Order: sequence, then structure tokens, then C-alpha cells
Amino acid sequence: MQPIRWGIMATGEIAHSFAPDLALIPDAQLVAVGSRSMQTARAFADQYGARNAHGSYTELANDPDVDVVYIATPHGLHHDHILMCFDAGKHVLCEKALTLNARTTAHAIGEARRRGLFLMEAMWMRCNPNIRAMQELVATGELGDIQAVGADFGFLAANADKARLVDPALGASAILDIGIYPLTFAWLFLGQPERIISVGAVSERGVDLACASVLSYDDGAHATLSCTNTAVTPGHAFVAGSLGRIEVPRPFHRPDEFVVRTSDGDTVHRHPVTGRGYTHEIEEVHRCLRAGLTESAVIPLDDSLALMRLMDWMRSDLGCTLPGDEDWSARLG
Ligand SMILES: NC(=O)c1ccc[n+]([C@@H]2O[C@H](COP(=O)([O-])OP(=O)(O)OC[C@H]3O[C@@H](n4cnc5c(N)ncnc54)[C@H](OP(=O)(O)O)[C@@H]3O)[C@@H](O)[C@H]2O)c1
Repeated sequence: MQPIRWGIMATGEIAHSFAPDLALIPDAQLVAVGSRSMQTARAFADQYGARNAHGSYTELANDPDVDVVYIATPHGLHHDHILMCFDAGKHVLCEKALTLNARTTAHAIGEARRRGLFLMEAMWMRCNPNIRAMQELVATGELGDIQAVGADFGFLAANADKARLVDPALGASAILDIGIYPLTFAWLFLGQPERIISVGAVSERGVDLACASVLSYDDGAHATLSCTNTAVTPGHAFVAGSLGRIEVPRPFHRPDEFVVRTSDGDTVHRHPVTGRGYTHEIEEVHRCLRAGLTESAVIPLDDSLALMRLMDWMRSDLGCTLPGDEDWSARLG
């Protein structure tokens, strides 16, 4: 079997987490790295065994040896970088959040579909084997009707110098950076909410630092979700139904196990996670590309768009805007 040849765009923190997991996939080959600096690209390429190093993202996108590009730049740049890869005919796995708002996410998805190229948001949580097992369990009806979901994600933005966490031009937003995890978790078990109400804290530069949201659903179910860059929160999650519940310990967005509590007792479920957990999304990309699919059913593009609409709604409740947000017409309702 021919390997699938990867290029990595950017050499920041997540790129350094992703590359070792890529090396664990037998039919994946890291062939190229692109950075704003040739020196950085060369060092990264040498560290992870890529033969091609590029001192610009455009050169990486146009590298004829690359089949699929993993975009690991700050989210404020994702839209431009997705289009850059599409212009070079490359398939794309793009870090979350896919873009900054629903308008640009819809545009990127439209371009992927128009050009027949693969696009997937790297929402790795959805590929985690424990998360997938929870979804299968809930689908059996064993927990009854799901009536409540809760999840929180909070950490101290330890390195406040990290530009992408503070600079609106790079898409700084706790909601887009970490709030996306509790929101996606609720989506997996309750789907599209009827209403969402959010409150939170905003930095002097107009960036959302923290957000607490209540979501209500047609059937009376609700979700309580929070994210913050200003405190370390438990990082737990639960899914509660009329017949039982799932409890997910910290860190709920990349769990190694979960507990099911019903009237029959408590059961611990454990599904092994490979590497740092990015392996599972890489395998999903490979499965799709080998099957000739341009979209993943595990991380559907329509879900990326629906979740971005919800995050637009959350940010607008807090009065936070980012470049390109002038059109809030994508709001719910
Ligand atoms: N899935 C996950 O677990 C996870 C975890 C953390 C972050 N993320 C996502 O991954 C993306 C990157 O996050 P990160 O933590 O890796 O960020 P980071 O450490 O700041 O790295 C971002 C990289 O983007 C490139 N870049 C291009 N223009 C830039 C600019 N103007 N300012 C700063 N960097 C610039 C730089 O690479 P070069 O210098 O090589 O050009 C930089 O190293 C974000 O979308 C984030 O949401 C995902």
C-alpha cells in the first residue's frame, strides 16, 4: 500500500504533539514541513524525519510530494491557509476551530465541496475511542432519554505571551480555543439546541476569556457548559438520562475511561488510546482518503458549521467580535 504523504503547516505546540503520533501510523509518511522561517522548518523536519523543509506556507502547499496538509496555525489564519492548500489541490486536516465564524466556515466548506477536496476539522475528541463508545452506548437506549449534559474546560493561559491566546487578529477566544470541546460534547448527545444563553468575561482587548452557557432543547433537555482561560476547573463531563448516567473524569475531552452508573451498578469502561490521542483522527483521515471520501462521517463538515454558528451566538452574547465578524446574520433563529 502506498503511504499517504503528509505536510505539516506551522511548527508550534500542537504541531510538535501531532508529529510523533503521525509517526505511529504505519501508512503515514511525513514528507514536508512549512514554517515562516526556513531555519525552524529545517529543525522540525530533522526532528521528525521529513525530507522537505519549506520557509513559507505557500511552498509547503505547493510541494508536489504532499497529499494532505495538516494546518496547525492559529485559528485566525485557518481560512486563508485552507484556501491556500485548496488552490494547490491539497486535501486538508485543519486544527480547530475551523475558522473564526460561521460565514468563513461556510465558505471554506463550500470551496472543499466545489473542488472535490477533502476537508476535516481536527476535533480529535470525536475520534477518541472512549467518546465513540459513549455515543454507541447512548444510542442503545440503555441510559433512557438523555435529559442533561454538563462539561467544563478551564486552564490558566499560563503563557500570556502566546499571541494566539490574546491577539484578536489571530483569533484569540476562549470559546473558539477550548469552549469548542464542551459544546461539541453536548452536541454529540443532544444535537441542535433550541436556545443558548451565555455570560462571561472579556479582556481589555475585547477577547472572551471565560464563558458559561445554558443550552435548552425541544424535548426539555438542557446542557450546562463552561470554559475559562482564568482558572483551572475540574474538566469533568456527564451525560444523564432517565435510566442512568455516564461520568467522564478529567480530562473529559481526551478520556482514557468513563463510568456508567445505572440501577444495575457502576461499570468502568476503558478503551485504549494510542499515542497522545491524535492517532485516531489521523486514521480517520486515512480511512476517508483511501475510500475516496471528501468528508468524514465522524467529524462531519455540517457539524463544524452548526457548532460555529453556536459559537458565533455565544461570542455575540458576550459582545466579542473578531476580524471578519461584521456579518452576524449567521446567528441562530
Ligand atoms: N487539538 C489539540 O489538542 C490542540 C491543542 C492546542 C492547540 N490546538 C489548535 O492548534 C492551533 C495552533 O495552536 P498552538 O497551540 O500550536 O499555537 P502556537 O504554539 O502559538 O503555534 C502556532 C504556530 O503558527 C505559526 N504562526 C503563523 N503565523 C503566526 C503568527 N502571526 N503568530 C504566531 N504564530 C504564527 C507559527 O509557526 P511557524 O513559526 O512555524 O510559522 C506558530 O508556531 C490553534 O488553532 C489551536 O486551537 C489544538
